[in-house]
Amino acid sequence: MEVAKGLEGIYAVESAIATIDGLKGILHYRGYNIHDLAEKSTFEETCYLLLYGELPTKEQLKEFEIKLKVQRELPKEIVKLIKILPAEKPMSTLRTVVSAIGLYDKDADALGREALIDKSINLIAKLPVIVASIGRVAKGEKILKPKKGLSTAANFLYMLHGKRPDKFHARVFDICLILHAEHELNASSFTARATASTLSDIYSATTSAIGALKGAWHGGANEQVIKMLREIGSAERVESYLREKIEKKERIMGFGHRVYKAKDPRATILERYSKELAEKAGDNGNNSLYQISKKIEDFMSSQQKLTEKGIFVNVDFYSASVYTYLDIPPSLFTPIFAASRMSGWAAQLLEQYADNRIFRPRAKYVGAEERNYVSINKR
Ligand code: ACO
Repeated sequence: MEVAKGLEGIYAVESAIATIDGLKGILHYRGYNIHDLAEKSTFEETCYLLLYGELPTKEQLKEFEIKLKVQRELPKEIVKLIKILPAEKPMSTLRTVVSAIGLYDKDADALGREALIDKSINLIAKLPVIVASIGRVAKGEKILKPKKGLSTAANFLYMLHGKRPDKFHARVFDICLILHAEHELNASSFTARATASTLSDIYSATTSAIGALKGAWHGGANEQVIKMLREIGSAERVESYLREKIEKKERIMGFGHRVYKAKDPRATILERYSKELAEKAGDNGNNSLYQISKKIEDFMSSQQKLTEKGIFVNVDFYSASVYTYLDIPPSLFTPIFAASRMSGWAAQLLEQYADNRIFRPRAKYVGAEERNYVSINKR
């Protein structure tokens, strides 16, 4: 009876969505290299690819974008809910709000492909709007209505900041959404699929996934990275800070991955944009967020004990500085991840419902032998 702790190396489903070559640091969505998608695609087109399995024609993309724009509008009950929930923990607020959206869908339990695609488009459209709205409430500002003319990325930045973003910022954010959209059977996608495997509804599966993504060892790492960058504060403190952490056997956030034993290709792309954004923002010195990040990565790569264990930079590392340069507060980093990953979860759920078997692994029992019950007044 072998126990695969953390289910390492276990293939639990067949999937046609994403492939990762962890040793070479290669990621494909539906056969397309992530570098190509980041360079040439848009978040909307990538969502279509994930949901339907093929890149759209011009007409298909136009129709899909219109559907997304129409679905951005939040029901007034949801806006009210966002306003009354505590604003300090956006990821928990998001989890609660997504669960609530399910309550307003009379047909929430429908599991047919067409119904699931409609619900997926609805959630993909609404999550970024919900996250931007939560961000507004957290700042004590009025929630804005979505702008129909803008892309998902540009609309998010507009709704968060109250002004249209410049083209470069909107494009960088669009690329961030592409990069976070899907990643095979990671903890949150697995959680989504496990919930769906009981024939529970898509809102329950998504709520479960958000709960899983929230943790610091998964999507929550990006918020921890910015805390670390701020704590370090200057390039000259990088080495002593990391040495101390490593000596204490503490984990360095934004490093390490179950599958990648090389640099995460998404980190390579994000690093480039962190550098460009730093230059554009005039954050040029040794102590710029980008330079501190780079120094951390260089130091970590020089630690043979870590590289031998396969500890390299992951997607959460450079996204922290990129989001900060886009003037996004740390508490929204993980909710943004969820808003993007909604597309991947939706694709995974479509697969799960189409070829379902309930997830029900076993636990190897290591507890007490059979024993007699002792009544409470004799214990
Ligand atoms: N810093 C230092 N050491 C690390 C790190 C790290 N970030 N990650 C793993 N290690 C060490 C472990 O301590 C362990 O050492 P040991 O063998 O001497 O005990 C060894 O590497 C293997 O670690 P595991 O926990 O077995 O690796 P696992 O595959 O289970 O964990 C995980 C992967 C959770 C991502 C881990 O690398 C980690 O905690 N990283 C930091 C958090 C993070 O950045 N998470 C985001 C991942 S990407 C994503 O989910 C979107």
